[in-house]
Amino acid sequence: MRDSSRLIRPAGRPLTGEITVPGDKSISHRAVMFGSIARGTTRIRNFLMGADCLSTIACFRRLGVEIDVEAAAGQVTVHGNGLRGLQGPKGLQGAGSLHGGPQRAGVLPGTAVLDTGNSGTTTRLISGILAGQDFPSLLSGDTSLNTRPMKRIMDPLSRMGARIHSVNGNGCAPLAIEPGQLHGIQYTTKVASAQVKSSILLAGLYADSSTSVTEPALSRNHTELMLKGFGADVSSIIKEDGTATASIAPCRELYAQDIIVPGDISSAAYFIAAALLVSGSSLLIKNVGINPTRAGFLSVCRSMGGDITLLNERQAGGEPSADLLVRHSSLHGVTIEGGLIPTLIDELPMAAVLAAFAEGTTVIRDAAELKVKESDRIATVTANLRAMGCDVTPTDDGMVVRGGSPLHGAVLDSYMDHRIAMSFAVAGLAAGGETRIRHANCVDISFPGFYNYFN
Ligand code: S3P
Repeated sequence: MRDSSRLIRPAGRPLTGEITVPGDKSISHRAVMFGSIARGTTRIRNFLMGADCLSTIACFRRLGVEIDVEAAAGQVTVHGNGLRGLQGPKGLQGAGSLHGGPQRAGVLPGTAVLDTGNSGTTTRLISGILAGQDFPSLLSGDTSLNTRPMKRIMDPLSRMGARIHSVNGNGCAPLAIEPGQLHGIQYTTKVASAQVKSSILLAGLYADSSTSVTEPALSRNHTELMLKGFGADVSSIIKEDGTATASIAPCRELYAQDIIVPGDISSAAYFIAAALLVSGSSLLIKNVGINPTRAGFLSVCRSMGGDITLLNERQAGGEPSADLLVRHSSLHGVTIEGGLIPTLIDELPMAAVLAAFAEGTTVIRDAAELKVKESDRIATVTANLRAMGCDVTPTDDGMVVRGGSPLHGAVLDSYMDHRIAMSFAVAGLAAGGETRIRHANCVDISFPGFYNYFN
């Protein structure tokens, strides 16, 4: 791929004024998926037109769902096919150019061949839906996606009766899924992962008895909230020890909804951090989703001494949102661990950068999941922080950042990971001298236009 590098200069002046960030990625994905398997027309506003969510749309179109996209207006209309109305292709399906996938000639006639791009959410959630269909499917993504662990969904889906296997036998995509009758299970996962939980719950819609998933700590609960809105019988319990169980009953049909997607707190995180770091800043970030299962970054910033005020708190479709007023603050080190980790898993690279500018030591632990994101984020964050002169030590499940010494600009790589590119663009604003980010265009995965906002 062409090297789309970006030069980032120190901010030089305070960040002031108002911005809105694009719609939430997790909620956008789910709105298209659930709309596709619901009866009726689902209208989605403030949809995130990022590459990952467009992969989800492309997959469901290929499964016979009519989806209208008005990109400039941020609107998507899904003409749902109903729970059992997805369609496999008629005859031999043209696979197009599946990255790393098997040759077209090796694909059985009638197989739905789907390209999930860079998107772990698309791959894992759609697998739960495909396990319940009466046609076979083959899922494959880009080189990075095809190295991410899929056993975490293959195991529970297989226990439900799905016939799902890794084509290359390495526990990764490409994944082949064949039709089979699904049964409800009571499953306990080792990792708190909303993608795993959602995959199982979606398969549970098609099972012959109820299904429950228990995770060690509550991961983002957009699936539970939105599926309830679509008419599914979903319930959740959190125990005193922090373990969380979500249950779903088999379902006859889901019903279309209108969804207003709040701004993505994961995208807001870059501007929250920039305003906290750049002297004299006072920035209003409007309409940000603040679901408690996603808002760990706000708590961490506040515990580091960050001045963040929530204004105009409101609810839409069960999802809380607010405007965030963020002012420049002196930060100090903290420990980030335990049940907080799933609530800011995607913001940990940004939190580590903040820690580098904070006085004292920050410890991030219980976050081994960072290793299996779009890059190994323990390795990529620590490599880039070190290149900027930060004293940081990677650990098995996180890192130790000894902050407070000035950072200098450097040539950094995004490692084709959108969150690394954006976190280090912010680091470049607050460091001395110029920073160059290589392979910087990967931000389009979750935040198209990021650099325009930045400028
Ligand atoms: C997501 C869940 C998280 C997150 C990802 C989006 C989702 O992954 O990192 O960006 O939409 O369910 P895990 O659930 O695997 O932690």
